[in-house]
Amino acid sequence: MLKSVTRTIGILTSGGDCPGLNAAIRGVCRAAYDRYNMSIIGIANGYRGLIEADARLLKPEDFSGILTRGGTILGTSREKPFKSRKGEYDSEVAQDKVEIIKENYKKLNLDCLVVLGGNGTNTTGYLLSKEGLNVIGLPKTIDNDIVGTDITFGFHSAVSIATEAIDRLHSTAHSHNRVMVIELMGHKAGWLALYAGVAGGGDIILIPEIPYNMEAITRHLLKRARDGKSFSIVVVAEGALSVEEAQMEKKERKKYREKTAQPSIGYRVAREIEEATGMETRVTVLGYLQRGGIPSAWDRVLATTFGTAAAELLARGDYGKMVCMRGNEVGSVSLEEVAGKYKAVPPDHYMIDTARSVGTCMGDE
Ligand code: F6P
Repeated sequence: MLKSVTRTIGILTSGGDCPGLNAAIRGVCRAAYDRYNMSIIGIANGYRGLIEADARLLKPEDFSGILTRGGTILGTSREKPFKSRKGEYDSEVAQDKVEIIKENYKKLNLDCLVVLGGNGTNTTGYLLSKEGLNVIGLPKTIDNDIVGTDITFGFHSAVSIATEAIDRLHSTAHSHNRVMVIELMGHKAGWLALYAGVAGGGDIILIPEIPYNMEAITRHLLKRARDGKSFSIVVVAEGALSVEEAQMEKKERKKYREKTAQPSIGYRVAREIEEATGMETRVTVLGYLQRGGIPSAWDRVLATTFGTAAAELLARGDYGKMVCMRGNEVGSVSLEEVAGKYKAVPPDHYMIDTARSVGTCMGDE
């Protein structure tokens, strides 16, 4: 006898992709379908799919066999329907996009929208919940910079990818007696550079939260050389900045950086190091490799756990929440608590002291 459908949910992935997205999709869908007999509508390319009504009914075979696949079977985008609203309801464009989303949500007969994404995605989810939609969020990003959860899925895989790259740089740095600078992702928060830097044994780790001064870096490199260390590894988050830059307004900083004619922080730091120490220095920008490929085992477990926890919230009709991990406990936090913020590395975070304890220079002393 066919069981009656209990709820119809829409699911979308939005923002930067990462390993683990498909594991999370599988977790949500298999629990919602198998345990709660829900009907699942896959929405293409993030919020853009809701605007374009680009959606299809997902069948069990759609969310089977995707646990280990990188990327997202739904596609993603950085569509931000509220972005031109500036907090007011006076922008015609934003109003249309939001109204279209609300209309399509109704046309698709959705009882709830499950959004897998980072800060922007969960903020949009919160704003849509204020417009009357039922929304549940899952914390996804390689940056691990979402408030309300100790960890996001995608982070562990990116740390593993970056650590393997740092390991490889050690051998070539040693062979050539060079300083190797590796630039990692992490625009606002330095979690990825901090953890991969500790895991990879980086000699210097530069993160946005601790503006660096070149004198401290130079002293550290020259001391290593005096101590017979013929090479060094410098791990730099793409959002890291010098003490001087930290005191500049955004526009001034942009002009200053254009004058250096260097494409990114990694190249700027490398040039400064060469000028200050005379040490031969090379740069690797790891870029999108940190977002590609299959999820680590831990990310598969975390993403599956978040997905099934989201299905429980759906079954209880407990909307307006984001699934989270706090300590070792999986729970949920209100989207309101998450929206519009990001989680920086606290200056007193134990991982910073751990790094310093093993002799790593954080660019400030
Ligand atoms: O948000 C994750 C992230 O990978 C950041 O670390 C990075 O700065 C950004 O996305 C890159 O954005 P895009 O994929 O749009 O180029």
